[in-house]
Amino acid sequence: MQIGQTITQFIIEEQRRTSGSGDFTSLLNDILVACKNISSAVNKGALIGVLGSAGSENVQGETQKKLDVISNDMMLDANVWGGHLAAMASEEMEEVYPIPGKYPRGKYLLVFDPLDGSSNIDVNISVGTIFSILRCADGVTNPTEADFLQPGTRQVCAGYALYGPSTMMVMTTGHGVNAFTLDQNVGEFILTHQGMQIPADTSEFAINASNSRFWEAPVKRYVDECLAGKEGPRGKDFNMRWVASMVAEVHRILTRGGIFMYPRDNKDPSKAGKLRLMYEANPMSFIVEQAGGASSTGRERILDIQPEELHQRVPVILGSKNEVQRVVDYYQK
Ligand code: AHG
Repeated sequence: MQIGQTITQFIIEEQRRTSGSGDFTSLLNDILVACKNISSAVNKGALIGVLGSAGSENVQGETQKKLDVISNDMMLDANVWGGHLAAMASEEMEEVYPIPGKYPRGKYLLVFDPLDGSSNIDVNISVGTIFSILRCADGVTNPTEADFLQPGTRQVCAGYALYGPSTMMVMTTGHGVNAFTLDQNVGEFILTHQGMQIPADTSEFAINASNSRFWEAPVKRYVDECLAGKEGPRGKDFNMRWVASMVAEVHRILTRGGIFMYPRDNKDPSKAGKLRLMYEANPMSFIVEQAGGASSTGRERILDIQPEELHQRVPVILGSKNEVQRVVDYYQK
């Protein structure tokens, strides 16, 4: 593995090292095709008339953007035919999407958020695609929602594509985190960041402060102490960021450290959090832990949660290890 090699070479070499069958390599290639297509549509934006609302709602009751729907279709189209998947599931689809009978079925399950942070689309701020690959249990020919409900520790691979100033693909198969930058002229992702590591300490936090009156006491205490700066109990000044695109926040944290929080709050007590476990929290937690960071709900490690439903929400506190641990300690107190 060396800086400058293509992602295709990288995953084929990985396959040789693990004596894989090639199925997984082909699946990743299909995901890359989808992300390149989404990147192109996001990049062209208003030029091809893809901004604005689609005039529909997803299963979460959120208004879908045109690009949410287009990105979802691009993920389905690129991944449906290859014979590597048994089924797919997405933020934008209420039910599991089985591979139609006219295509061969494979041994993997793919779950994704096709366009995370889509409130940012119309204002031309970074968005991304998040995905998680799970194994389909042996002998299951018609996977249902229950087959997807595996804890995050069972993920085979997790990744995200970030559509920012550059398009990047960041992923892990459980052996560290590597990032690839799309060379738009060549159409290939090139390895640019090898073995990414999140610094254990940080002076930067990310949280939607407009929810502060609804936060639980441990989160309020943590943020108050950060805001108190040098004169407060932390004895140093903190910086704050909020992009409202989890992909962009996680990418910043992978690059220079930080803590990201979308905690449980009492704004709507029927919701355990805002973010979705299967296609947001789990893949991001896998990546963050593989980069030496930590990820928790405040009460438990996210990757250990046994999912109960496909679109389940969870509180998320992730990033630099010592800061996440501090919030967890406040919860324990
Ligand atoms: P979505 O996938 O529906 O676009 O959700 C975006 C998520 C996440 O990316 C981001 O961190 C958070 O929602 C932003 O929430 P606020 O709107 O509360 O800031």
